[in-house]
Parts: sequence; structure tokens; C-alpha cells
Amino acid sequence: MDSFFLFVFMFFVSVQAQTKTNVKHSTTAMFVFGDSTVDPGNNNYITTGLKSNFPPYGINMPSHTPTGRFSNGKLPTDFIASHLGLKDYVPPYLNKTLSIEELMTGVSFASAGAGYDPLTTQINNVIPLQKQLEYFKEYKSRLTTALGTDKIESLFRNAAFIISCGTNDLAENYFTAPVRRYQYNITDYQNLLVQNVRTFVQSLLDLGARKFGFVGMPPIGCLPVIVTLNSPSAILQRGCIDEYSIAAKQFNQKLKAELKTMQNNLANSGIIIVYADIYEPLLDIIQNYKKFGFDEWRKGCCGSGLVELGYLCNRHIAVCPDPSKFIFWDSIHPTEKVYYLLFKSFVGIVDKYL
Ligand SMILES: *[C@@H]1O[C@H](CO)[C@@H](O)[C@H](O)[C@H]1NC(C)=O
Ligand SMILES: *[C@@H]1O[C@H](CO)[C@@H](O)[C@H](O)[C@H]1NC(C)=O
Repeated sequence: MDSFFLFVFMFFVSVQAQTKTNVKHSTTAMFVFGDSTVDPGNNNYITTGLKSNFPPYGINMPSHTPTGRFSNGKLPTDFIASHLGLKDYVPPYLNKTLSIEELMTGVSFASAGAGYDPLTTQINNVIPLQKQLEYFKEYKSRLTTALGTDKIESLFRNAAFIISCGTNDLAENYFTAPVRRYQYNITDYQNLLVQNVRTFVQSLLDLGARKFGFVGMPPIGCLPVIVTLNSPSAILQRGCIDEYSIAAKQFNQKLKAELKTMQNNLANSGIIIVYADIYEPLLDIIQNYKKFGFDEWRKGCCGSGLVELGYLCNRHIAVCPDPSKFIFWDSIHPTEKVYYLLFKSFVGIVDKYL
């Protein structure tokens, strides 16, 4: 075996051994809010153009079934839930047939296409964060009826609230739709998003949340569809669009600072608010794609890989023979392999705080 791969192999073996045996997790449930990076299929139950509950989505799930996850396999939140020993898949809340036992260990309220800016969600006709909160309130009252107030309080005390959102606000709304960029410069728009994060955290605190994990934005200028729309030649000269990625990075810095301020203001209350960076890990994977075992970073595995997403990535479209050689599954979303690598990049935070 090539020594580098042997090294990588040994590294994974040792990381897995460490995280599986030494760390005791106190988390009893996981509640998830945000966009397509963490939506396991809530959009299946609403009227929107943003769906993925058809092949080839989900081809690398155990029974090759599409679920509404925007990837070929699992999402990062599925990996977190498995790692915490809760379950292997975080189900969508809008599946009304989930049992109380399934509901108790956690669900996702996320909706592909959602943003911190309500206008983003409106453009995509999906479930806004405010509505995701309303569903969480409904969840709380359903479970309170079934289990009693004491049980719910203790469940929430040790529950992790995971929020992954923001890419649609910048990539789709601010830079692509013709409204917000005429109303706000990029700095003011980033501040608006961060202000909405603050309001969202406060609402969840009021509902009994105590442990928060936020995921920042990726380098959005490297998403295949953004490269396609903004390159001098969408086919021959493809490269990351710096302006977009810089805006995402600045947002991440502001988000991180705001979360830290909130955490400091809540010191001694037992409340935990952590930030996980995926920007640098994903950029590292893109820039060193060969080292990570990938053949391609500039386009997605589905179809031409330049634009296909949602309904354009469907059963009539050819897919690449081996998705694990691709960084992107469709023109926006990473493959399961990349989601797994990103999960590994922040598993230390999971072990420390959850
Ligand atoms: C909804 O949840 C039930 C219970 O877990 C499951 O059997 C069913 O397959 C789910 N429906 C969909 C469409 O995923
Ligand atoms: C953005 O606009 C604000 C006023 O709303 C101004 O203070 C700030 O300097 C502007 N920033 C940039 C980068 O143009």
C-alpha cells in the first residue's frame, strides 16, 4: 500500500478508535434547523420546486432510495447522530408517521432553500426559519402531551440544537436575485443575517434549548453552479469566484464573533454555543483534491455537473460512475464522502461539547 494512503488509513482507524471508546456523550436528542445541507426530506411534504426525492439522489443510501436528502447518501447530521449513538438517520419532522420513540431522539425541521433572510426562503417557496421554529413548538407540545413536562425538560436539557444555513442567502439571494444587493451593501447584509441568527438563538433559548452548534458557510465561490454562472468561459475556464467566497468568509467571522459574545453573556448558565468551521476544511479538500482521493472538483457528478440540481438532476440524467471520486454531487451539494470528511473535521467539537 502506498505509504500516504496507509497513513490516512491509520489516521482514520485511530480517530475512530478514540472517538468510539474514550468519549462519553451526554446528548439525548438532536434538533436540526436550516437548509439543504441538513434537510432529510421536509421539502417532500410541501409545494416547492426544490426537491430531491427521486433518483439519482440517494443512490448510495443503503437501499439506494432517494429520501429528499440533497446528496448521493447521508448528511453531516446523520453522521453526528450515529456518532452520538442516537440513530443512523435524522428523519424529517414533517413525516407525520414518526413514532414517539423516533421523535424523542431528534428530528430535522430544516428545509432545502431556506436562509437566515426570510426573503431567501420566500424566493424558493420553502419553510422559513420562523416556521421551522413553529414546528418545533408543535413538536414540544406533542411530546409534552405524550411524555409530561418533566421528561421534556430533561430531554431538552441534554439536547443538541444544530443549525446550518446561510449559503442560499449569499449565493442565491444577495449575489443572484436583484433585490437585496440594491438595498444593502455586502457588509450591511452580512450584519442583517447575523442579527437574524441572534433573534433565532433567543427564540430557541426561550423554548428551552441549551446546547447550540452552528455550522458556518462553505467557500461559496467554488460551488459548481456559481463557477458556471460567473466564469469567463463556463466550460473552459472554471475557477472559484473569490468575491463570493470572501463574502462567505467574512460572514463566518461575524457569526463566530456574535456566537462568542452570546456565549460570554450567558456564562455560568450552563448554556453552550459553539461554532464549527467548514470553510477551511472544504477549501483544503478542493485545493488538494488528489490527496484526498478525488478526481474532480470543478463539476458535480450528476449530468454535466455544471448546472444540474433538484429536478434537473433526475432519473433521465447520466451520473458519474463513482461519486466517491467527486467533491460535488450536484451543482451545489457535496457528495456523501465530502460530508463525511467535513464531519470528521469537526468531530472534536462534537466530542468536547455534545
Ligand atoms: C416516515 O416514517 C416512517 C416511520 O419511521 C417510515 O416507515 C416511512 O418510510 C417514512 N416515510 C418516508 C416517506 O420516508
Ligand atoms: C456599507 O454601508 C454602510 C452604511 O449603511 C457604510 O457605513 C459602510 O461603509 C458601507 N460598507 C461598504 C463596504 O461599502
